[in-house]
Amino acid sequence: MEEHPLLQAAPAAAAPAPAAATDEEKRERKKRRRETGPPPVSSDVSLGNHQRYYGYRPRVPGAEPRRADARLRFLDATWWNNKKAKDVGCNDGTFSLEIARRFEPRMLIGVDADAGLIRAATALVARRAREVDPDQLLAKTEVKKGVARKGPLPFPHNCFFEAEDVTCGGGDHSFDVISAFSVTKWIHLNHGDEGLLKFFRGVYDSLRPGGRFVFEPQQWKSYQNRRRASEAIKATFKSIQVKPADFPRVLVDDVGFASCELLGTPDDEALPEGFRRPIFCAVKGPGA
Ligand SMILES: C[S@@+](CC[C@H](N)C(=O)[O-])C[C@H]1O[C@@H](n2cnc3c(N)ncnc32)[C@H](O)[C@@H]1O
Repeated sequence: MEEHPLLQAAPAAAAPAPAAATDEEKRERKKRRRETGPPPVSSDVSLGNHQRYYGYRPRVPGAEPRRADARLRFLDATWWNNKKAKDVGCNDGTFSLEIARRFEPRMLIGVDADAGLIRAATALVARRAREVDPDQLLAKTEVKKGVARKGPLPFPHNCFFEAEDVTCGGGDHSFDVISAFSVTKWIHLNHGDEGLLKFFRGVYDSLRPGGRFVFEPQQWKSYQNRRRASEAIKATFKSIQVKPADFPRVLVDDVGFASCELLGTPDDEALPEGFRRPIFCAVKGPGA
C-alpha cells in the first residue's frame, strides 16, 4: 500500500520556480507539494502535529453541497448527539468541529499535545461562531428571553479545546464517547507498547459504563515510513510487538472493553491509499 505523503520524510525544499513556468511545470510542482505534505507546526514532527493537515486530507462528495470528510459516514450521530465527548489528537480542530456541528454533542472537548494547534483550534471556534446567524443562536440559547438555558449549548459553543498529552493520564471519567482519529501511531512510536496500552486503559477509565471508543489506527506500513524520525523513535519502533492489527483483541482481552467492531474503511476514489484507514468502535460493558 502506498504511504500517504504526510507520513513520509520531507524531501529537501524545491528550488524557486522560474518565472515563466509552463502549465505542466506548475502542475508538477503542485503535485510534488501535495506529496511532500505540510510542514509541522513546530520542529517536532514526531507527534504527527502537521500544519495545514486538513489542506492535505482530501474531502469527498458528501450529502451536503460542501465536500465532506469521508470518515463521517461511518460514524453514528446518536453516539454523540446530546452526549459528552472527547476527541484526542484534535490537531487544529477542523474535524472535531465538524463532528460538533453535525452530531450536536452536549459538549465535545478536543485535546492535543501541541499547544500551538490548540490555539489554532480555539481561533477556529471563534471563526465558526462569527459564521453562525446571531439571531438563531440567541433564539436557541433563550438569552433573548433572559431565561436560563436548559438544553445543550448550540454549535460552535458545544466545542472546546485544551492542550493535553493523553499519555499523562486524565481525571474525568464521565465521557460517553472518546475518539482518536489517526493518533495511535504517534502515541505508539513515541511511547511504545507500554505507552499505547496506558493510553487505551486511560480511555477505558475515562468512559462511563456503556461508553464508546471510536478510533482510526494507522496501519503498520505507515509506522515503517516514520521509523527513522528520531533516534528515540528508531529505538521504540524496534521494541514494538503489538501491531495495529492486534488492537481490537488487545482492547477486549487486555483492556476490558466488551467488544470492538470494525465500522468500515473509507475507500473513496479521491482518497489516497494512505488515508484509507479502518475505523473501529470499542464498547465498554454496561456494568463495567
Ligand atoms: C495526524 S493528526 C490527526 C488529527 C485528527 N485527529 C484527524 O484525524 O483529523 C495527529 C494529532 O495527534 C496529536 N498527538 C500526538 N500524540 C499526542 C498525545 N500524546 N496527546 C495528545 N495529542 C497527541 C498530534 O499533535 C496531532 O495533532
